Amino acid sequence: MRFVARLFTLFSLTLLLNAPAAFARSFEQIEKDKTITVATEGQFAPFNFFQGSKLTGFEVELADEIFRRLGIHVDWKVINFETLLTGLQQGRWDFVIASHAITPEREKVVLFASPHYCTGSVIITSDPAIHGVADLKDKTVAVATGTTSYDWVKANVPQVKDVKNFPQDPDARAAVQTGRADAWVTDRITATASLKTNSQGDLKILPALLYRERVAAVAAKGNEPLVDQWNKTLSALVADGTYDKLSRKWLGADYACH
Ligand code: ARG
Repeated sequence: MRFVARLFTLFSLTLLLNAPAAFARSFEQIEKDKTITVATEGQFAPFNFFQGSKLTGFEVELADEIFRRLGIHVDWKVINFETLLTGLQQGRWDFVIASHAITPEREKVVLFASPHYCTGSVIITSDPAIHGVADLKDKTVAVATGTTSYDWVKANVPQVKDVKNFPQDPDARAAVQTGRADAWVTDRITATASLKTNSQGDLKILPALLYRERVAAVAAKGNEPLVDQWNKTLSALVADGTYDKLSRKWLGADYACH
């Protein structure tokens, strides 16, 4: 009996290991089902975040509106930032919108849509001796895991004492507020929103933009038809003023890539 059970375990394990990778659904399939599974992070105000128990923000309303126009209902999933692109490749969801910048490394593994805003990162600190990148020498910098801010600090601040990784930006911010880090590097729009809603401490945003990036939604490789429909509808939203309205509502200005 025990032997049979063991054989069975071995058999299921083999099945599991040999299971074909799941693929994100084609646009045709999505259109047929009239539902798309879109994953986001939910910790990146004002783009994707929670107001009470409601997932909302610029990217959430933008995606809801785009898919509404395509006659497709959005089934939202809230996932750690770090897991979003892996899950997309594994077909665990069909689409991701979570402020991913278009980078050559990410382009190797996923398919980017047209950018829906342009931005860059800044240094946030309460240390009056930190005026710019050069002052991060021998300092501890907090960043969110898997972000372009993390990559930028690693590549451009060689004399940094430590780069502390946090699963999400609110934790990186808390590290600076509690003195576990000297500075926080994140997106300027996110930093501005964060300091507005939580003014605790004397954090300041340094004015210099460290780099510029184009942010876009993401589909699995090979899903060009889905990205084409998204891009076409995004252009329509820009043309009829809806993009501008959403951008002003959530971001306070127009951050379209010009
Ligand atoms: N734009 C940056 C990047 O591409 C930060 C994105 C962070 N997004 C989030 N949902 N926490 O890495």
